[in-house]
Amino acid sequence: QPIYLADYTPPAYLIDGVELEFHLHPTATRVVSKIRFTPNPKAVSRDFFLHGEGLTLIRAAIDGTDITPDLVEGGLKADVPDAPFLWEAEVEISPETNTALEGLYMSNGMYCTQCEAEGFRRITYYPDRPDVMAPFKVRIEGREPVMLSNGNPIASGEGWAEWDDPWPKPAYLFALVAGDLVARDDSFTTMSGKDVGLKLWVRPGDEGKTAFGMQALKDSMKWDEEVYGREYDLDIFQIVAVSDFNMGAMENKGLNIFNTSAVLASPETSTDANFERIEAIIAHEYFHNWTGNRITCRDWFQLSLKEGLTVFRDQQFSGDMRSKAVCRINDVSALRGRQFREDNGPLAHQVQPDSFVEINNFYTATIYEKGAELIRMLRVLVGDDAYDKALDLYFTRHDGEAATIEDWVKVFEDSTRRDLTQFRRWYKQAGTPRVAVSEDWADGTYTMTFKQSTPPTPGQDEKLPQHIPLAVGLLGPNGDEVLPTQILEMTEAEQSFTFEGLAAKPVPSILRHFSAPVILERDSTAQERAFLLAHDTDPFNKWEAGRTLAKDVLVALITGEDAPLEDYLSAITVMLRDDSLDPAFRALTLGLPSQDDLAQTLFDAGLTPDPMKIYRAQQTLKQAMAEHLQDLLPRLMADMDVTEPFQPNAEQAGKRALGLGLLNLLNRLDGGAAAQALYDRADNMTLRLGALGDLLQAQKGDAALADFRAQFETDELVMDKWFAMQVTHSAPEDTAQIVAKLTEDSAFNWKNPNRFRAVFGAFIMNPAGFHNASGEGYKLFADWLIKLDPVNPQIAARMSSGFETWRRYDADRQGMMKTQIERVLATEGLSRDSQEMLGRILNG
Ligand code: ARG
Ligand code: ZN
Repeated sequence: QPIYLADYTPPAYLIDGVELEFHLHPTATRVVSKIRFTPNPKAVSRDFFLHGEGLTLIRAAIDGTDITPDLVEGGLKADVPDAPFLWEAEVEISPETNTALEGLYMSNGMYCTQCEAEGFRRITYYPDRPDVMAPFKVRIEGREPVMLSNGNPIASGEGWAEWDDPWPKPAYLFALVAGDLVARDDSFTTMSGKDVGLKLWVRPGDEGKTAFGMQALKDSMKWDEEVYGREYDLDIFQIVAVSDFNMGAMENKGLNIFNTSAVLASPETSTDANFERIEAIIAHEYFHNWTGNRITCRDWFQLSLKEGLTVFRDQQFSGDMRSKAVCRINDVSALRGRQFREDNGPLAHQVQPDSFVEINNFYTATIYEKGAELIRMLRVLVGDDAYDKALDLYFTRHDGEAATIEDWVKVFEDSTRRDLTQFRRWYKQAGTPRVAVSEDWADGTYTMTFKQSTPPTPGQDEKLPQHIPLAVGLLGPNGDEVLPTQILEMTEAEQSFTFEGLAAKPVPSILRHFSAPVILERDSTAQERAFLLAHDTDPFNKWEAGRTLAKDVLVALITGEDAPLEDYLSAITVMLRDDSLDPAFRALTLGLPSQDDLAQTLFDAGLTPDPMKIYRAQQTLKQAMAEHLQDLLPRLMADMDVTEPFQPNAEQAGKRALGLGLLNLLNRLDGGAAAQALYDRADNMTLRLGALGDLLQAQKGDAALADFRAQFETDELVMDKWFAMQVTHSAPEDTAQIVAKLTEDSAFNWKNPNRFRAVFGAFIMNPAGFHNASGEGYKLFADWLIKLDPVNPQIAARMSSGFETWRRYDADRQGMMKTQIERVLATEGLSRDSQEMLGRILNG
């Protein structure tokens, strides 16, 4: 059942051109295809196979003669000429009953598609693999006022529209949208002076939420020209917002389709974090036009070729648009929260896997975010200029191709003449490397010794040393930098680096800007961490010092050891008082490590994490912080007031973030009074939602919740927040009950992925609530996985990662989770998606 990378063979037939004709009907859409096939000279077989799933074949013909193909599992076979030929077929499909949201489906009466990775085979018979690329012409017939597809518009009339995409593309980039839509129009002039029409399509009523997305698109187009020299290549670029969508968004050529949550924004309905995410996703999908579409992937084992690179590019873009330091800290927090969790559990897998059962299960933090880190490391190793040259070579050498990760690494070897043999291990070795540091000081010579090791992961017991760029700087005893950042290249299992001629023993700042996705193990004192928090010139490590200090305190509170509480509180006070520091940075430094992070840390240390103890330690520390900072809070909060009209920019967002961080502390002292006042006067969603969270935390949220619902009842995206907030800010003993109650709410439209995630995503992200000792939460969660699986297997499989940490916990919890995992697995007709995920979770 698994598919293996090693089994790759080139396609038997290539395609010169595709013509599709759609006759839209909710339950009986007809799709007529005309495909010109040519035998592939590089093929190893002449077997003709087309993928197809859930299709009713009406008619098929070869070179004008009707044939009866052989319908087989997953597609069809036919005898074909040993020369170029024309394939014609007509199939019928039912978009309205397609709840899996893969292929052609309907969302709020609107037709739309999602074809990546293997959805096109649910639209018509086709070689649905990314190394078969072809130009597409599309004709759509139907009653919908707006009917869109990829490429340039050719002609349209009453009841029909024609589109032509001249750029050869794999089927996964196909898109069709039809419905009652309105557009925000704009235009962009490219660097060579071409005018590109821009359209952002939404449902009538959502026009007021399109300005920010359009600006983000124009900023992305400009940035890709300036930084990567990449120009857009069609007459028109369109984005469509869709309410029912499995993922964030999709880079279909010239016609990106977005989850409404990833594009619609207004100050009244979106938080600063929403704005930031939307800007990044719009950039991400736009950047795919070159890294993904013009150069695509040979097969799905190469997924990180386009996703890792495109995430890296969108991270660079966000850093340029906002604050580099703050973006880096956020990216690393997300990496640790999602990818480290994955890489250190049963779902650990390679950035380039060797096999998979269901490719949709591999759109993971490892493929995306770890993939991006590998590109970032390459750039650090070769240098910025060499990186730019390598990218130019990549674009010229592989434009129009379906490439591999090996092609990518080779481009760096050819353009820099570096041997990257060892670096390739990063793609093939799963697991997070640990790097332990020890130091030695004598006669002005300072020596750092690093030892690396990577724990075993499922199917990979033995690990080899990785090529790790360690960015290191040294600080003198009074806080000045005695050695600016250097890149130490670690290639051995154990390696020492020596620095001579130092006047005094330095304090090292290691792994600056998080130069490699590893776990640094270094015994350090609270004093040294506080010193680095005060003096490090690298903003990432400055933040990291505060974070590790907070972690030391929390771990000690949990295990009952002596906690360096006073050191932490005074260091944090100094940091908060420092007006020269960006408020956004201060807000991040004020934040505590997550419950999940602490659970993993304890587990790594050989302890069994108790979710309630972790939760209480956080509450204890926050209470101590609130009391310690009591006198400072009002003044600092006043400093963070934004008096200018709302702008979703980094500067204002930073002030709001710090203001809310401080309010969260004050909330523990004033019983919700300040939060209620803020809720009542808030004129934007960031402050309103922050205040609501605090009110819920203080168990004073009922009135605000009712008010919030009354105000935003008709806004799906805001109602998602209403659902999620109640789960996130519940007391652990109540969480499962609150979740159960929310699922009975008339507005709980569980077939909508955003709404399901609002409740159950928030549930599994709330460890103290989800892992409540009663086990009630596990059962409830499993019930809903079973219910969702036949309707939307992709989302059910994705959500099942809520169970991925089951082995961390005590025997009781393990037993209860195992029972539920096995119960879901035993469900008759369980999807391949969920079977693979839960099987790996159980056995990995
Ligand atoms: N390529 C899209 C993106 O990042 C993700 C689409 C994945 N969809 C899926 N069903 N697996 O940017
Ligand atoms: Zn992507």
